[in-house]
Amino acid sequence: MTDRRQRYNETIGHIKSLIAGETDLIAVMATVTCELHHAFDYFDWTGFYRVVEEGLLKIGPYQGTHGCLRIPFERGVCGAAARTRTTQLVDDVSRFEGHIACSSSTRSEIVVPVMTPAGALIAVLDVDSNQPAAFNECDQANLEAICKLVGETGG
Ligand code: SME
Repeated sequence: MTDRRQRYNETIGHIKSLIAGETDLIAVMATVTCELHHAFDYFDWTGFYRVVEEGLLKIGPYQGTHGCLRIPFERGVCGAAARTRTTQLVDDVSRFEGHIACSSSTRSEIVVPVMTPAGALIAVLDVDSNQPAAFNECDQANLEAICKLVGETGG
C-alpha cells in the first residue's frame, strides 16, 4: 500500500473516532481540518467554505494563513466546485481562470463539494498546496469519502 493511501487510512480512522456521535457541523469541520492539515505535509491551507445563502460561500473552520471570507459561486475554484457539485483538481492554479489567490505561494489545489445524504450542498472543502500538481486520484477519492462523512453530520 502506498504511503499516501496508508496515511489516509490512518487519518480517516482518527477522524471517524473523533467525530463519532457528533452532531455539531462546525465541530466536525474543525476536527477534520485539523486532522487533515497535520497529516499531510503538502497541505498548506485546509478549510471549509460553507453555503450561507443561495450562491454564496463563507469561510468556515480552516488551518493555514488567512483565507478570503466570502466567495460567490461565480468565482474561484471553490465556486466552480459549488456550482458543478464536482471535485475540482487543479494541478496549476495559474492556469485556472478566475482562481482566487489567498496566498501567492499556492501552486495547486483540490476542492471537494460537501453534500448531505439528501443531496443538499452545504459546503466545500478546499486544500491548497505550495507544490505543483500535489494532488492525485488518491487524494480525491479519500477527501470525497471524508466529505461524505461531514455531509452526514449536516443532514
Ligand atoms: N483558492 C480558492 C479561494 C480560497 S483560498 O485559497 C483559501 C478559490 O480559488 O476558490
